[in-house]
Amino acid sequence: MIDATPTSAPTAFELHRGRGPFNAAFFRVMGPYLQRTLRPRKQRVFADLPARVVEIGPGVGANLPYLPPGGTLVALEPNRHMHSPLRSAAHRHGVRLELHESMAERSGLPDHSVDAVISSLVLCSVDEPAEVLAEIRRILRPGATFRFVEHVEAGHGTFTRAAQRALRRPWAWVFEGCSCERDLEQSIRAAGFETVDIERYRVHSPFLPFNTHIAGIARA
Ligand SMILES: C[S@@+](CC[C@H](N)C(=O)[O-])C[C@H]1O[C@@H](n2cnc3c(N)ncnc32)[C@H](O)[C@@H]1O
Repeated sequence: MIDATPTSAPTAFELHRGRGPFNAAFFRVMGPYLQRTLRPRKQRVFADLPARVVEIGPGVGANLPYLPPGGTLVALEPNRHMHSPLRSAAHRHGVRLELHESMAERSGLPDHSVDAVISSLVLCSVDEPAEVLAEIRRILRPGATFRFVEHVEAGHGTFTRAAQRALRRPWAWVFEGCSCERDLEQSIRAAGFETVDIERYRVHSPFLPFNTHIAGIARA
């Protein structure tokens, strides 16, 4: 059921000795809470996924429940501390796993070969969202979809925006480069997809800088 041999080495992902394992543990522990918080949007944008799905930065497998049982997840996950829990989660969900230790910027997948790419809470962490979005468009077949749930910058002048600014350095340090100050709606709209459908919404977690979100579907 599971083919989990890493097939390529990351070229630039810096795996920190302490924060790499910390983040793997954090997302394992916080998984159920994040699932409850994000479930309504995930149920909408990850509905009716095809049998083979590419996920950028799947972490420990938060989105496996949305894949069809018996389907295949092509996982691009450069933090190898996530791999063991991801394998176990794929096994539990009956999803075949093709695990690549690659970065989303360089998936190594052929042009126009994929029916769906998904992400949750990843475009905040990559170095250049535009580069990742270009790679996603490259691998999607015409008409295929990129579905996402991401946290984004709050409106200018708001208290949440001020908190995002004030906490940006420690936040990025703890969460391996995660930025709370990205206008990812604009990045996705500018990425050249045929259509883009985005909902902005707010969650009510104790992690104030994290609370402003987008969810949506972009069609290649
Ligand atoms: C905040 S975690 C989210 C994990 C999971 N998607 C979730 O919703 O729980 C961010 C994930 O993105 C991964 N990541 C960071 N940079 C990446 C890159 N350039 N390409 C692919 N994944 C990346 C991290 O290793 C981590 O697993």
